[in-house]
Amino acid sequence: MEENYREVSYSQTIVSELMIPAYANFGGKIHGGILLSLMDKVAYACASKHASNYCVTVSVENVDFIAPVEVGEMVTLTAIIIYVGKSSMVVRINVVAENFLAGTFKTTNTSYFTMVAKNNAGKPTQVPGLILKNKEEIKRFLEVIKRKQLKTTYKKELQNARLSLLVIPEEKLLEKERCQLIL
Ligand SMILES: CC(C)(COP(=O)(O)OP(=O)(O)OC[C@H]1O[C@@H](n2cnc3c(N)ncnc32)[C@H](O)[C@@H]1OP(=O)(O)O)[C@@H](O)C(=O)NCCC(=O)NCCS
Repeated sequence: MEENYREVSYSQTIVSELMIPAYANFGGKIHGGILLSLMDKVAYACASKHASNYCVTVSVENVDFIAPVEVGEMVTLTAIIIYVGKSSMVVRINVVAENFLAGTFKTTNTSYFTMVAKNNAGKPTQVPGLILKNKEEIKRFLEVIKRKQLKTTYKKELQNARLSLLVIPEEKLLEKERCQLIL
């Protein structure tokens, strides 16, 4: 079967939504969950457009909200595919909040959603390859490869750290923490 490739621009998806009072938390700012839900939707739209298939969210990375979003602001999410594996795709989502009254824009976060395409039987299925047209697109693709390697190393190190903490209780580390040891 001939390999199919698609450009990043083919599936770029931009969604804007006005932040209404119903989206606010007790502090008057927009709920993080509202933004997460919007991000999941835009990731789905972008991934299923690239794959021409149903997709599921498998992993979410880098969701650090660096600025609060206010009621009345317009949030715009821009999603692009930056990496494809066999059935998986990494979607980069940039979230910007525009304040019409102040005439300002602020980036609240840039996050990475891993999505997997599934066939009618519910099994992961191959997605088209990605055409990289400039240095930025190449850099982002390579960054995902690097991030995957680091994630594997991090998981292993965390597992080793957990094991060693179980063998030798590091009581000294807990002295200044708000916990009581009852062994
Ligand atoms: C993720 C899922 C599709 C993996 O299915 P599987 O039968 O184990 O398939 P595979 O191991 O072949 O993995 C499929 C792809 O997912 C990727 N993948 C699996 N787990 C992953 C993870 N935690 N992070 C990133 N990628 C992951 C694999 O690397 C593989 O990518 P590739 O095809 O590009 O090489 C399956 O576990 C699933 O359906 N999970 C639930 C997803 C869901 O319901 N999401 C909504 C949450 S509310």
